[in-house]
Amino acid sequence: MYKHVLVYLTEDASHDAVIELINEEAFGPGRFTRAAARIREQGPHDRSLSFICADNGETIASVRMTPVLAGSVKGHLLGPLAVRPSHKNLGIGRELVRIAVEAAKRRGSEAVILVGDPPYYGPLGFEKVAYNALTFPGPVDPNRVLVVPIAADTHARLKGTIAWADASVPVVSDTGDDDEDLPLTAIAV
Ligand SMILES: CC(C)(COP(=O)(O)OP(=O)(O)OC[C@H]1O[C@@H](n2cnc3c(N)ncnc32)[C@H](O)[C@@H]1OP(=O)(O)O)[C@@H](O)C(=O)NCCC(=O)NCCS
Repeated sequence: MYKHVLVYLTEDASHDAVIELINEEAFGPGRFTRAAARIREQGPHDRSLSFICADNGETIASVRMTPVLAGSVKGHLLGPLAVRPSHKNLGIGRELVRIAVEAAKRRGSEAVILVGDPPYYGPLGFEKVAYNALTFPGPVDPNRVLVVPIAADTHARLKGTIAWADASVPVVSDTGDDDEDLPLTAIAV
């Protein structure tokens, strides 16, 4: 009988080719037209918050995290999340989400945002973003825009556009309160 030996690792460049295959298999060619993909085209994902799962040394699942500014929230967009069909329903998807969200919290991220199925992500701590509060660079179903709010006032500040953002660059605030302009790296715990 096949014995799974699952290991979760931080992504590095050596995983790029297999992650491409996993995402192709899961989402097909249409994956590049999705609104979330349009954000990911704007800049690189953060490898240090992105993870793979390997079974007996073979990479079989991946989750990526991309730094974004959503309204005035400095957060991360989670996705793509994909598990090879041979390894579905083993809890791997849930574990990758859990690891990525915990890593984002440790980094000082204010929110983890995604476009996905509420029945899957709800039990993992994701809540619906207020209807149409965020404008994506393409059409999305507003009922599928979800967030793990990390900062206390996240929901109130998730209003406006969502776009890739260099997490090391301070947000220009119009409040005049300099403390709110700290770069992500400076508020990491
Ligand atoms: C969705 C996906 C990542 C789940 O990964 P996984 O490792 O198989 O999931 P887990 O083992 O953690 O969880 C399995 C549970 O989630 C449920 N589930 C899977 N996909 C779901 C969905 N889209 N909506 C609701 N529930 C879902 C399963 O029915 C199963 O339920 P059970 O525990 O009650 O039996 C995987 O099926 C996949 O790669 N799908 C194709 C790509 C995709 O849709 N990615 C998500 C984009 S939002």
